Amino acid sequence: MSKTMKTLSKRRALVTGGAHRLGKILTSALARQGCNVVIHYHTSGKDAEETAEICRELGVTVHLIEWDLSNPDKIGEFFHEVSESAGPIDFLINSASMYQENRAESVRPGEFQDAMNLNAFSPFFLSRAFAEQDRPGHIINILDGRIKDYDRRHISYSLSKQTLFSLTRILCEELAPQIQVNAIAPGIVLPPEGTSNKKQELWKEGNLLKKIGDPEEITAALVFLLKSEFITGQVLFIDGGRHLKGSFYGT
Ligand SMILES: NC(=O)c1ccc[n+]([C@@H]2O[C@H](COP(=O)([O-])OP(=O)(O)OC[C@H]3O[C@@H](n4cnc5c(N)ncnc54)[C@H](OP(=O)(O)O)[C@@H]3O)[C@@H](O)[C@H]2O)c1
Repeated sequence: MSKTMKTLSKRRALVTGGAHRLGKILTSALARQGCNVVIHYHTSGKDAEETAEICRELGVTVHLIEWDLSNPDKIGEFFHEVSESAGPIDFLINSASMYQENRAESVRPGEFQDAMNLNAFSPFFLSRAFAEQDRPGHIINILDGRIKDYDRRHISYSLSKQTLFSLTRILCEELAPQIQVNAIAPGIVLPPEGTSNKKQELWKEGNLLKKIGDPEEITAALVFLLKSEFITGQVLFIDGGRHLKGSFYGT
């Protein structure tokens, strides 16, 4: 290992939405690296317990914290609770997110507001609280490969992820040199439950490599970014090249 690439062992990561699906995969990957984890969840208490057990079996310490992150005004309180129970945090992974289906002709103001609050503003305020610890650290924002497109079927989600992309740049500038801020923009790696085979085939056709991605590609990128001491402000697109098409998405 290069002497500038650090180990994640015995560090502590907070993963929002870390209990199930991609969040669970990210949390478990960190635990495999020997990283202690704080698993945030909202409604998935049972999944959180299961993920915690997997991590404990890997020999790391685990803290669980339940919180509704939809109110950016309460994020300072949330981070205070995390620090009180788990101690200082080295890595913040902003993965919690909502994915509503809505279109330009019928989206309601509240839908925009909800998506912006959870997917963009709460990660921003959480990042600020994290930086106030006044110690070196990393923030990884989980975006979406579609930030380059206009997704006609998920307009509030798209706008919120594009905003989180902009906030990644802002935070990178504002929190340097103490904090490195990077992002991962996945393409389809874990289709929503119940997605038909027909739809999955269509999605494969939508990217250059004609595949659905392996979620472990996201974890490999996460570990790579967290080990780096000289990368900040990057967005890694892990989407089979879908972002290069840069066009309308959805019908
Ligand atoms: N899956 C993919 O292929 C894919 C592709 C592109 C981007 N992404 C991004 O990757 C991340 C994870 O994706 P995913 O598919 O695993 O997402 P998901 O299944 O939609 O899970 C979303 C997570 O957000 C949490 N969450 C939702 N509302 C919340 C609230 N009000 N307060 C606190 N937490 C809340 C949920 O926690 P609880 O379950 O505990 O309520 C859940 O863990 C997201 O940021 C997503 O945009 C995923």
